[in-house]
Amino acid sequence: MNPEVNFSNLTIAELLTANFNFYEVLKKYDINFDKYFNKKLNIFCQEEQLDLLSLNEELNDKHAENKTESVTEESFLNILTLEQLCELIHYKYHHYLITNIPLIQASLKEAKDKNLFENIEDVYTLFSNTITTLLEHIRMEEDVLFPSIKEMLSSNNPIPVKELINQMEDEHEEEGVYFRKMESLTNNYTPPNGADSQTTSIFKQMKDFHICLMKHVYIENNVLFTKVNNSAKAM
Ligand SMILES: [Fe+2]
Ligand SMILES: [Fe+2]
Repeated sequence: MNPEVNFSNLTIAELLTANFNFYEVLKKYDINFDKYFNKKLNIFCQEEQLDLLSLNEELNDKHAENKTESVTEESFLNILTLEQLCELIHYKYHHYLITNIPLIQASLKEAKDKNLFENIEDVYTLFSNTITTLLEHIRMEEDVLFPSIKEMLSSNNPIPVKELINQMEDEHEEEGVYFRKMESLTNNYTPPNGADSQTTSIFKQMKDFHICLMKHVYIENNVLFTKVNNSAKAM
């Protein structure tokens, strides 16, 4: 049996990000997600006079379950406010992308120096070129778009945000083109027959990165931007 995990020092947001199925456990307590999203589980229990140990146990039980009939990520995303969505994108997706960019680039550089697989030169050049734009894009969202969304909500003025969203959507398409090229140059990230472990590991790193990037773009385009546009229309 696995040792029990102590979740008490994680915020509600961190818990939900770690495992969306925790939503099922937390909603039973009629949790006010707005109020507690950024508060630790122990504070939530203290303020709501709940037993931390038994809640921790319930979370462990849920953690141990296989992902069967549980709340979908999409339905969880839909209950988040705009500010919460921005935070989720920031610390889950942007954090992953920013952390992995230098790791993948270093792996690709090594692969290029050793000429490890076909098209490595082109893949390395494409990746190196696209990450500059991608990092700039993420910075723009973090420093300009997300604060503007918050500003829009308080000022009731949707115009600057609409323009920014159009720009971000165009950039998402451009990123998609670069990554689809890399996908095709690596035969859908399939290592060639007899590939060594280094090549196999690089292909996996790239595939995971591409999936995360696409998922994050999907959430921005289809959940965040849709919600922002709907709020803007109502102003
Ligand atoms: Fe983003
Ligand atoms: Fe984006």
